[in-house]
Amino acid sequence: MAIILVTGADGQLGNELRVVSKNYYGYDFVFTDVNTLDITNLEQTAEFIKQNRPDWVINCAAYNQVDKAEEEPEKSLLINGVAVKNITEVIKGSECRFIHISSDYVYDGKSCTPLNENILPAPVSAYGRSKLAGEQYALQHQGSMIIRTSWLYSSFGKNFVKTIIRLASEKESVKVVFDQVGTPTYAADLAAAIMNIVSGVIRNQIAMNSGIYNYSNEGACSWYDFACEIVKEAGLNCNVLPVLSNEFKQAAVRPSFSVMDKSKIKENYGITIPHWRTSLIKCIKLLK
Ligand SMILES: NC(=O)c1ccc[n+]([C@@H]2O[C@H](COP(=O)([O-])OP(=O)(O)OC[C@H]3O[C@@H](n4cnc5c(N)ncnc54)[C@H](OP(=O)(O)O)[C@@H]3O)[C@@H](O)[C@H]2O)c1
Repeated sequence: MAIILVTGADGQLGNELRVVSKNYYGYDFVFTDVNTLDITNLEQTAEFIKQNRPDWVINCAAYNQVDKAEEEPEKSLLINGVAVKNITEVIKGSECRFIHISSDYVYDGKSCTPLNENILPAPVSAYGRSKLAGEQYALQHQGSMIIRTSWLYSSFGKNFVKTIIRLASEKESVKVVFDQVGTPTYAADLAAAIMNIVSGVIRNQIAMNSGIYNYSNEGACSWYDFACEIVKEAGLNCNVLPVLSNEFKQAAVRPSFSVMDKSKIKENYGITIPHWRTSLIKCIKLLK
């Protein structure tokens, strides 16, 4: 029976993997979070992996506070970078497969056409630099697959969708930036895609090709468009006002364009990706 270790499993993606795992009988899932397995602790990580002998590690653990990372870059690097090195140091040379999640914020955002995996990353924030370090550490293990995702939301945890619903319920208007364009990703879709890949490889239906893959929902929008759609689908009565990023004080610079090209993951793994609007409707139904 394949043993699948999920780290950072109390977050958005980890919780969605818990939900999806119920469709996969015959796999032994081990869900951990910082209180059961702190991946910044090399000794603990080594001991845990030695005892549980996973065939797969899916790392959902992260430091995701993009603005706060500017104040505490060491902490961001520790969780997003050094902790990934700990995992790869423990599994390096073994048959264990590793799926590590990265971010569209490794790109500089200067392009205006969808970004593929061959474009050189050039992060513009401490968070982006820490995620890039994590990718580089993950690639030190032969059996690693890195999935870059963007604008993640879910019915679990804190995210933009929930924030906009709360603000729009309390206020008559809410200001949202319109000069940052990307694609929202419903964590439930990403979790389903990950398990499609994992189960396909376990059943020898597909070959796992290590390397970097982009995954977000289909389509593109600005945060402003995203907020308008959230307010509409949640049935709220609030004016969404478009503002420029420089009118909206944030400590970290964000890429102005981070729409990703998903051809590689779709072609390699036969994955169909829903449009962001379709998935947003599903998530808001759950939240209602
Ligand atoms: N959220 C986004 O918009 C976004 C966008 C692009 C990429 N991503 C990437 O997608 C992945 C999943 O993100 P997510 O939104 O599901 O993250 P999340 O909700 O923030 O969950 C991350 C989980 O990791 C835990 N964690 C923190 N430090 C840890 C440690 N040392 N050891 C073990 N667990 C630890 C966190 O615990 P605490 O809550 O107690 O810290 C949390 O439960 C991450 O790699 C993230 O960088 C996210």
